[in-house]
Amino acid sequence: MRIAVYPGSFDPVTLGHVSVIRRAARLFDRVLVCAMRNSEKNNLFSLDERVELLRRVLKDIPNVEVEAYTGLLTDYCRERGADVIVKGLRSGADFSSEMQMAWINRTLNPEVETMFLAAEKEHLNISSTVVKELANYGVNLIGWVPDEIVNDVMEKSERGRKRHGEWDH
Ligand code: PNS
Repeated sequence: MRIAVYPGSFDPVTLGHVSVIRRAARLFDRVLVCAMRNSEKNNLFSLDERVELLRRVLKDIPNVEVEAYTGLLTDYCRERGADVIVKGLRSGADFSSEMQMAWINRTLNPEVETMFLAAEKEHLNISSTVVKELANYGVNLIGWVPDEIVNDVMEKSERGRKRHGEWDH
């Protein structure tokens, strides 16, 4: 049985992520979507919330499971018996950072291969960072994130703005 891990911050999950997951689910017997900490990023949603959003949007794909993991990706792969790490590539910038992570992961666990899936052209400019920026300005997120979570992202972003007092002036 071929098991792939699709890791990421998913803060929040976007239509680009879902596309890569659906395509990976056709290539592998099981796809484990692993919500992780990225020490370089500030999160809008907690890890548990990110897992809940992922499960909601992926519930119709039978061979996809969602988990959170706070350790090293390569340890997670070892624990789950995964053969492959799948990542999506949108651009040259993605290529540089993803190649670096692939080399690090390969050094930590040579048993696991990293495979890249080319992003669909309609998703080249979608990222969780852009989604959060647009939400911050109240832009409707239909077409950026799955319909089922549009309101969650808008409401969370609005709550964050209120908490930081930006609407007091
Ligand atoms: O969606 P992201 O933020 O680009 O995903 C990056 C992520 C979470 C996959 C990466 O930061 C990661 O693997 N974090 C887990 C810790 C780890 O294993 N670090 C070493 C590999 S660089």
